[in-house]
Parts: sequence; structure tokens; C-alpha cells
Amino acid sequence: MAPCAGCFLLAVMFSASCKAFTSSDQMCTEKEANKTYNCENLGLTEVPDTLPNTTEFLEFGFNFLPVIENTTFTRLIDLMFLDLTRCQINWVHEDTFQYQHQLNTIVLTGNPLIFMAETAFNGPKSLKHLSLIQTGISNLEFIPVYNLEQLESLHLGSNHISSIKFPENFPTQNLKVLDFQNNAIYYISSEDMNALDKATNLSLNFNGNDIKAIEPGAFHSKSFQSLKFGGILNLSVILKGLQNSTAQSLWLGTFEDSDDQDLTPAMFEGLCEMSVESINLQKHHFSNISSTTFRCFTQLKELDLTATHLKALPSGIEGMNALKKLVLNVNNFDQLCQINAASFPSLTDLSIKGNMKTLDFGAGCLEKLENLQKLDLSHNDIEASDCCNLQLKNLPHLQYLNLSYNEPLGLQSQAFKECPQLEHLDLAFTHLHIKAPQSPFQNLRVLQVLNLSHCLLDTSNQHLLAGLVDLRHLNLQGNHFQDRRIAKTNLLQPLNSLEVLSLSSCDLLSIDKQAFQSLGKMSHVDLSYNSLTGDSIDALSHLQGIYLNLAVNSIQAIPPLLLHTLSRQNTINLRHNPLDCTCSNMHFITWYKENLQKFEGVEETMCANPPSLTGVKLYDVELSCGITAVGIFFLIVFLFFIAILLIFSVKFLLRWKYEHI
Ligand SMILES: *[C@@H]1O[C@H](CO)[C@@H](O)[C@H](O)[C@H]1NC(C)=O
Ligand SMILES: *[C@@H]1O[C@H](CO)[C@@H](O)[C@H](O)[C@H]1NC(C)=O
Ligand SMILES: *[C@@H]1O[C@H](CO)[C@@H](O)[C@H](O)[C@H]1NC(C)=O
Ligand SMILES: *[C@@H]1O[C@H](CO)[C@@H](O)[C@H](O)[C@H]1NC(C)=O
Ligand SMILES: *[C@@H]1O[C@H](CO)[C@@H](O)[C@H](O)[C@H]1NC(C)=O
Ligand SMILES: *[C@@H]1O[C@H](CO)[C@@H](O)[C@H](O)[C@H]1NC(C)=O
Ligand SMILES: *[C@@H]1O[C@H](CO)[C@@H](O)[C@H](O)[C@H]1NC(C)=O
Ligand SMILES: *[C@@H]1O[C@H](CO)[C@@H](O)[C@H](O)[C@H]1NC(C)=O
Ligand SMILES: *[C@@H]1O[C@H](CO)[C@@H](O)[C@H](O)[C@H]1NC(C)=O
Repeated sequence: MAPCAGCFLLAVMFSASCKAFTSSDQMCTEKEANKTYNCENLGLTEVPDTLPNTTEFLEFGFNFLPVIENTTFTRLIDLMFLDLTRCQINWVHEDTFQYQHQLNTIVLTGNPLIFMAETAFNGPKSLKHLSLIQTGISNLEFIPVYNLEQLESLHLGSNHISSIKFPENFPTQNLKVLDFQNNAIYYISSEDMNALDKATNLSLNFNGNDIKAIEPGAFHSKSFQSLKFGGILNLSVILKGLQNSTAQSLWLGTFEDSDDQDLTPAMFEGLCEMSVESINLQKHHFSNISSTTFRCFTQLKELDLTATHLKALPSGIEGMNALKKLVLNVNNFDQLCQINAASFPSLTDLSIKGNMKTLDFGAGCLEKLENLQKLDLSHNDIEASDCCNLQLKNLPHLQYLNLSYNEPLGLQSQAFKECPQLEHLDLAFTHLHIKAPQSPFQNLRVLQVLNLSHCLLDTSNQHLLAGLVDLRHLNLQGNHFQDRRIAKTNLLQPLNSLEVLSLSSCDLLSIDKQAFQSLGKMSHVDLSYNSLTGDSIDALSHLQGIYLNLAVNSIQAIPPLLLHTLSRQNTINLRHNPLDCTCSNMHFITWYKENLQKFEGVEETMCANPPSLTGVKLYDVELSCGITAVGIFFLIVFLFFIAILLIFSVKFLLRWKYEHI
């Protein structure tokens, strides 16, 4: 036995010395000089000498530090943030951080802690964040209480904690976040909760604990920023237990799609006895849903029913006049009217996206929502041959409308007449059939952002965007233009306020010199993923200080005349263009190297021609474009002939003079 143990020890020593050897080899990466370093996963057994004393943020996870003590970090007296995730730490000795007065965050996630000294956290003047996730803690007594007076967040997820009872002298007065996710808490008593009395505005997370009971009165007259009891199926247990408490938000969703137990109207009765503004019930099933289900929901300002398998919301829900935000994403509605919108007359924000079935837009389904400002109907397979005035009837205050990722929509002129206050309109990836010669957007005088990417637009209609006098941001990505060219007169002309324009992936070959002439305010132009050549840059000659993306085009050379246009811009991206690195492009290459700070993606800005330089980074190219030896030979011969010619003509002239004296 003994010799074997010796062997084992020897093996350990060998592997340890091996690790030490690799450690001196590998370097931490510097993220910000003298301040921020990442030394993760380098097999380190100590803080390397190469790390400067001034280090403030240190990511040191996935190394090997079975014991940390007062000598481990001595040198790093400026440390503010220390991440020691999965360093196989078993022992945290006395005064480990005694010299780290600035330290405010210690992450000990994933270390199998066996011992932490009482004074383990002494030193820092204001330790605010402590993470003890997956450290094998089963009892809160294990956490040393000294010097935690300033603690604001304590993460204790994925441990074996069964009681949330803190030691009496544990300083909880500054706690804002207390996270008990995925522990073994079955019961919450009043006594346990009383230890948290001093904390105000606390966010308390019990997700993934199988709570079977809460002592009545445990939460009596307590107030929280947020309470999370995710993963619990019988909500009566929780809601009864929360009697007489106040919470800004209450998260009661589940995670897996388990239909073991449905939510019955009776389960929500406890909700009448507490005060809460926002509830999330994601992924639950409702049984026998009726207006009584919502009897205790009248105080709510926000309700999230994402993926709750709803086919309809019952009619006759009463009193939900306070509700401002309703989320009904990923449900099973057939028709928009099935949400019975009239029950929520004060709504300002409605989201129904990713419906599991094709959603019929209906007519006037939302007309009672006069205050609606934000409407998200993306990813719903909505199809409408005549959109959108009938469907969006009486939404005078709508500012944001998302209809992206739907089926084809037909738009008449002034298709959004019912919502003249629109500021954001997203129609990306929804095919549009524009049915009138006039603009469907004509009345949208305050529209600022319009996303028409991948809409299969008829871009030859020059009036398509007429009337958009305030438009700042236009995305036309993935649409095609006649003859693969943006002509002198084009649909962009009315957009005098435009600042950001994307024409990427539009299959363009060229842009007319005057195509953007009326767009004087542009600051960001994206022309990437087309087949443009250098000549197209001329279209930008009236602009300056812009961000210009020309990545992935067919630019080979940039004529010297256009360098002036480029030199006036802030940032330029030319990566992945087949650039010519011969003397004919010498002016550009010289200028490029002098202005490298202007360019983005320089590592991918490479030569394509001549073959000998293919793949060489443009900033590495050395061209000698002086006159070659052969050139010099011809020049000398040429000059020689000129001289002979000159001599003969002088001779001839003199002779002619003599003959005529
Ligand atoms: C980093 O520290 C070195 C040596 O103290 C100093 O020379 C250098 O200027 C510092 N760099 C920055 C960016 O502070
Ligand atoms: C570290 O602790 C040991 C034992 O408590 C002590 O003898 C030693 O002086 C301490 N070292 C430093 C650098 O404080
Ligand atoms: C870093 O700190 C150590 C210990 O405090 C000290 O001996 C060393 O001189 C310091 N190094 C620099 C470059 O200041
Ligand atoms: C409570 O906490 C939330 C976030 O945790 C914060 O936004 C809010 O301002 C805080 N309220 C008070 C009164 O401190
Ligand atoms: C809730 O508050 C009421 C009135 O203060 C009190 O009568 C009742 O016992 C409280 N319930 C619990 C469970 O604390
Ligand atoms: C839910 O828990 C309560 C106790 O709080 C119990 O009375 C009720 O029967 C349970 N409901 C279901 C459906 O199990
Ligand atoms: C469903 O609700 C109705 C009316 O609220 C009630 O009469 C009926 O008994 C309920 N059915 C079940 C199975 O709970
Ligand atoms: C519209 O919805 C899509 C998909 O849900 C999303 O990606 C996009 O960011 C939204 N648009 C805006 C302007 O928020
Ligand atoms: C459409 O463009 C806007 C503005 O660039 C952006 O916020 C939004 O996410 C885009 N929508 C989609 C579906 O990508």
C-alpha cells in the first residue's frame, strides 16, 4: 500500500511540475494595457510574473489553485475584479485578499470548496459581488460573515442548500440580488425570511427549487424588486405563501414543456392578497381558462403569457384597465381577434410573435386599443392581399410596428393611414406587393426607421418612398435593381433626411455618379456584398465623415481621382475585394498604407492580382514602380537619337544660312 501511495505522490509531483513548466510557457492575453488580463485555461498554478502589479480585472478561471492564501495575490494590490472559476480550489485561507483593498467582485464558481477561513474575505474595503455557484455549499453557515457589509449580490445557485436561514450576524442590509437557483429548498419559513428584513428592493431567485410549502405570513408586509419561483407547477403554494407582500415583478414560468399539472382559476386566488405589477407565466398550460382565471389580475401592469398554449383569451375579462404591456408570443391563435383585445383598453405595448399557426390578421381586431404605441406581429405567417388600414383600424398613437417575417402583403397607396404617428416600421423578409403607383408610406411624415430588407420590392417605382420626409434609417438589403444599377433618378431621391442606408446584398454592378445627390446628410452607407467596382465610389463625392462599407465587392483598383472622396470619410471597409497590387494601382496602395487608421478589416484586405501577391495583406505590399533597366536603356537610346537629330539640324541650318549669304 505504502509504495503505491509513494508512486501516486510521485506521479502527482511530476504532473504538477509539468503544469508549472507549461505555465511559464504560455502568456495571459492583455485586453487593456496594465489593467485587464485573461489568463484562463493555461494550466497555471500561480499568478505569473508577467502579469503587471497594476492589474485591475483578472480572469483566471480554469487553472489549478487547490489552495489560495495570503501570498497568492500579494502583488496585485489594484485588483477590482477577480474570476477564479473552476480552479479546483478546496481551501480559502485567512486573509487571502488582505492587500486587495479595491476588490469588489470575487467569482468562485465551480470550485469544490472544503474550507473557507472566517477572515477569508478580509481586506477589500467594499466587496460587492460574490459568486459561490456550484461550490458544494449545503449550509449558509459555511460562508464567512466578516467584511461582507457592502455585499450587493450573492449568487448561490446549483448547490445543495435546503434552508435559506442566514446566520444571525450575516449582513444583508445592502443585498440587492440573492440567487438560490437550483438548490434543494422545499420549505420557506417566516424565520428564514426575517433574516432578509433589512434588505430593500431585493431580487430573490428561487427558480428550480421544488418548493412544497411556504409558511403563512412568511412574506407578510415584505417588499421586493423581483421574485422568481420558476419551475413550480402548483402555483397556489407560492401565491398563498406570498400573502400581503409587494413585488414589482413575479416570475412564475416553467422551463420544460411539461403538462403534468394545469393552471386552474383557483390557483390564482392568492394573487388577490398581494401586490404585484408584472407577472410572467411562460410555458404553463391553462385548464378551463375563463374570465374568472383573471379575476385577481386587475392590478397588473404587465403580463407575459409566452408559450402558454393559448388558442384564445376568454371574452368578458373585467377590470384589467391597468394593463400596459401584454406578451402573447408563441401561442396557438388562429385569428388576431381571438385575443379579445377589448379587455385591455389601456395597452400601450402588445407582442404576438412567433405564433405556432398561420395568424389571420382579421379586421379591426385591435380597434379598442387606442393607446397602443408598440405592436410586434413578426414571424406569424400573416398574409393579407390588402394591408393594412382595415387591420390596424383606429391606432392613432402607434409608433412601432413590426410585421417582419410574414407571408406576402399587398399594399395600396397610404397603406398605413390609420397610424400616422409611426416612427419604426419593420417589414423585413415579408414580400410586398405594392399595388398603386403612389407610395404606400406617403402619410408617414414622422417615420424614422424603415426596414424593407428582403421584401422583393419593385425598386423601379420611383415614388415608392415618397413622403418620408423624416426618414433617417433605411434598410434595402437584399432587394434588386433594374440592370443591377442604381440610376441617376431612383427611389431614394425624396429622402432628404436619410442618415443610414443599407444596400448590401443587392446584387449591384454599378451606381450612377449622381444617384445619391439629394442625400446630403448620410453618415453610414453599407454597400457590402455586391459586385461594385471602384468607379461607384464617385457617387459619394459630395459626402464626408461617413462610415462606408464596401466589403465583399469587385473592386480591383481605385482611380487616383477618387482618392479624394475616400480621404474625406471616417471609416472604410474594403475587406474581401479582388484588389490589384500592380503599379497601375500604386497611388491607392501608397495612400492606403498612409491612412491605415481609417480602415476596418485590414487583416482581410488583400491582393488578388498579380498572382505572385495573391493573399498578401495590402498593408504589407512593397511596390517599386520606378523605371526598370530596360526602360533606362531605351530612354538613353532615345535621347541619343534626339541629340544626333539636333546636331544634324543645326548643321543643316548653318549650311542653309551660308548658301544664302
Ligand atoms: C503600462 O505600464 C508601463 C510600465 O509601468 C508604462 O510604461 C506604460 O505607459 C503603461 N501603459 C499604459 C497604457 O498605461
Ligand atoms: C501569511 O500568513 C502567515 C500565517 O498566518 C504569516 O506568517 C505570513 O506572515 C503571512 N504573509 C503575508 C505576506 O502576510
Ligand atoms: C510589484 O510588486 C512587488 C511586490 O510588492 C515588488 O517587489 C515589485 O517591485 C513590483 N514590481 C513593479 C514593476 O513595480
Ligand atoms: C430597485 O432595483 C431595480 C433593479 O434591480 C432598479 O432599477 C430600481 O431603480 C431600484 N429601485 C430603488 C427604489 O432603489
Ligand atoms: C395579511 O394582512 C392582513 C391585514 O393586515 C392580516 O389580517 C392577515 O393575517 C395577513 N395575512 C398573512 C398571511 O400574513
Ligand atoms: C396545490 O396545492 C394546494 C396547497 O397549497 C392544494 O390544496 C391543492 O390541492 C394543490 N393543487 C393541485 C392541483 O395539486
Ligand atoms: C370550468 O369552468 C366553468 C365555469 O367557470 C365551471 O362551471 C366548470 O365546472 C369548470 N370545469 C372544470 C373542469 O373545472
Ligand atoms: C422585428 O422583429 C424581428 C423578429 O422578431 C426582430 O429581429 C427585429 O429586431 C424587430 N425589429 C425591430 C425594429 O425591433
Ligand atoms: C430592420 O432594421 C432595423 C434597423 O436597422 C433593425 O433594428 C431591425 O432589427 C431589422 N429587422 C430585422 C428583422 O432584421
